Amino acid sequence: MLATKTSTGFAAVLALLFMMAWTPSHADTPYTVTNGNELDIQSYQGFKVFRNWCARCHGTYGQGMRAPNLAESIAVISKAEYVDVMMSGKVTAKAKKMGRMPGWKGNAQVMDNLDNIYSYLKARADGKIGAVAPQSAN
Ligand code: HEC
Repeated sequence: MLATKTSTGFAAVLALLFMMAWTPSHADTPYTVTNGNELDIQSYQGFKVFRNWCARCHGTYGQGMRAPNLAESIAVISKAEYVDVMMSGKVTAKAKKMGRMPGWKGNAQVMDNLDNIYSYLKARADGKIGAVAPQSAN
């Protein structure tokens, strides 16, 4: 009886360790890119929302225009900083010359796709997909 309890506990600990080992690696690459430009469905959805709302300032593929190159930014800022900028916007001395980064709190489509947009930009930042038109792999 005691032996069964102990091994059940041991299995639970092993399962927990297994989950802990896997979670960070998924968080590091929240996307998949195949054949150079085919994205998983979530990242592709992120690209479409990005194209709708962000491309006019950041460029169609986030390569930068009057607003910064986000492939470079996302390589440097944390996910928490990304979420913060998305919620509240950002205005610095640099930004005044470029126009300003609006907050998106009031935009349901952007809010619903915060993670999906991040996934697409992370794939860009990691160099897994270039400034090319993505396709949906699914
Ligand atoms: C009206 C133009 C405009 C639009 C539209 C816009 N941005 Fe921005 N964004 C900017 C500017 C300008 C900055 C630079 C702000 C600064 O450095 O002070 C910026 C900064 C950012 C940053 C922070 C970059 C860094 O290095 O700190 C992120 C992330 C970002 N934008 C994502 C987005 C996303 C995602 C969208 C679409 C939902 C979007 N932006 C739409 C103008 C825009």
